Order: sequence, then structure tokens, then C-alpha cells
Amino acid sequence: MHLTDKFGREITYLRLAITDRCNLRCQYCMPAHGIDIVDRKELLTYKEMYRITRILSELGVNKVRLTGGEPFVRKDFIKFLETLSFNDKLDQINITTNGALIAKHIPKLEELNIKAINLSLDTLQADRFKTITRRNVFTETMETLDKLLESSLQIKLNVVVIPGLNTDEIVDFIELTKDKDLSVRFIEEMPFNGVGQKTDDEIWNMKKIYHEIEKNYNNIIPLKSKRSSTSQNYTLEAYKGSFGIIPAFTRTICNDCNRIRITATGMFKNCLFDDGVFNIRDFMRNGASDKEIAQLFINTVHKKPKNGFVAEANRRDNVSESMSTIGG
Ligand code: 5AD
Ligand code: SF4
Repeated sequence: MHLTDKFGREITYLRLAITDRCNLRCQYCMPAHGIDIVDRKELLTYKEMYRITRILSELGVNKVRLTGGEPFVRKDFIKFLETLSFNDKLDQINITTNGALIAKHIPKLEELNIKAINLSLDTLQADRFKTITRRNVFTETMETLDKLLESSLQIKLNVVVIPGLNTDEIVDFIELTKDKDLSVRFIEEMPFNGVGQKTDDEIWNMKKIYHEIEKNYNNIIPLKSKRSSTSQNYTLEAYKGSFGIIPAFTRTICNDCNRIRITATGMFKNCLFDDGVFNIRDFMRNGASDKEIAQLFINTVHKKPKNGFVAEANRRDNVSESMSTIGG
């Protein structure tokens, strides 16, 4: 049995949020005082997350990305990784992290065969890092980056392009790929968490980001990406790494979507832009069997909206929650 929607898209990829808590307060994600975090009892337990993942893996999901909030702030996250890595139906376990807490865990992550780490890093300048994240952990984050580069883990740097804050660093980030085998992905900022819409000239969309790169380089080589890739990727002649742009807001990638999300409180989402289809936590806590849960997943995936615009239009209210709640 497989998870297929009515447009023929097969779901093989789960993004699972470990927690809604975070040790940073990135401006585009949270207000300075943080978001209203939920009561601990409302978070999925590790046991529940394990069960969900097992059932989904039996339905064809072979790749899991663990996100947050910041996954490493939750107690016993490493133990959970150990347990999850026993599931041999999963070909890939990846993690999205801000990196501030993880330098010391890198050998363990290698040992557990974690495939790739997506490190969120929006600036290479210490003072700006503090402005953007409202926390003073630039040194720790850069140490993590250095250690990751020495490790066997694949590294993607996620750079949210923030008008007025880091657009002048696009070239600096690309220069990192000259000698380093890493992939830098520029992400369109999404107007989440109540900061409101920006005007058209303020928005740095995919086109504008690419244009900025084109102004600075004349040796851009497009790379073939996997069908379900969220970014169009490029490299520069003689550069070791690569870079790409994620049209998070323009949403030109929905046709090849292969993913679903589960938030830290167990809300099942067919799309980043929908407001949650059902709460799997409550269903489990009310005693549902594995078979019933599997059937629910099958039925729900079938209703996956065609794209992020349809999903957004179907919402009960505007997109306003934080990525930390949604699970990046
Ligand atoms: N727009 C774009 N990306 C965002 N992220 C968090 N909030 C936003 C937003 N409003 C990114 C983080 C991280 C990933 C989990 O999501 O930078 O890389
Ligand atoms: Fe934390 Fe990521 Fe949100 Fe920054 S963007 S506050 S690192 S969850």
C-alpha cells in the first residue's frame, strides 16, 4: 500500500517537528518574546513519533527530516535518533537545525548514519547574527559549521534572504562554495508569523535573487536536480560546492511535491500552507489501531491540495503561525 494523492503524486517524505521550542528568536520566525509554546503534554511523545514514522514507512515513506523549532533543544533527542535509525525502511534521516547546540554531537550523528544536516545560517557576520536571531551564539554556530565540514555528513546551508538585512551577503555565501563541498540554498522569505506582507519591491523572490547572482558571476552552470527537489541548483565553474534558490513563497515546485508534515503537536499537514488536516496525536491517544491510523493517512493524503495557493485559499484564517510551530 502506498500514499498517493489524486494528482498521482506519491508521498515518500515526512517532515516531522520534534518540538515547537527554539533557542533562537529569528526575526522572520518569531516575535522577540517568543511564540506561545504549547504545554509539554500536547507535544507528541517520542514513542508516538516513532509509531507514526513506522506506520508511514510501511506505506512507502523512506525519507524523514526532523525539524522544529530546534530539534536539539528537546531532551533525549539523540536517544530518539538512535531508536529511529533502527527502522530499516528509512533510507535517509536528515535534520534541520540552527546548529548552536550541536558541535559536540557531530561524531554521534555520523555514527548513526544521519545523511544530511541543513544548517540555518542567514549571515556570516557576528553582529548581524545577533540582530537576526536576537541571540549571541554566532561563535557556536560557526564552530558547528567547521566541524560539519570535517565530517562525513552532507551539508546544506539554509539562508533566508531578508530584505535590508543580508541581501548584500549573497555573494559571500556563494564564495563559501568555492573550496567547500557544501550546498547553499537561498530561501525566499515567507510572510509568516504576523510580520505582514511586504511591498513588491521589497520582496526578494527567486527571480530577484538569481538576478543578483547573475550580476556578479558569468560562469553559472545549472545542475540537474531530483524531481522532488525544492530548489533549482547551480554551480560555478571550478567551484567545489553548489547553490540553489528555494521558491518557498513563489511556490513553483508543487507539481513534484512528495512530502507531508507533522507538527510537534501531531497536526498532520498535506502542505506547508494548509492549516492542518487532522490531529494524529488525539487519534492515537483515543486508542486508534495501526490499521486505522494507516487508513487515515491514506485517505488524507488522497486529499492533498494541488499546490500551496489552493492550500492557502482553503485555510480558515490567514497564514500567520510561526515556522517554529509549523515545523520548518
Ligand atoms: N521564511 C522563510 N524561511 C523560514 N524559515 C523559518 N521561517 C521562515 C520564513 N518566514 C526557515 C529557517 C530554517 C527553516 C526551518 O525554515 O531559516 O532554515
Ligand atoms: Fe529557531 Fe529556526 Fe525559528 Fe530561528 S527560524 S527562531 S532557528 S525555529
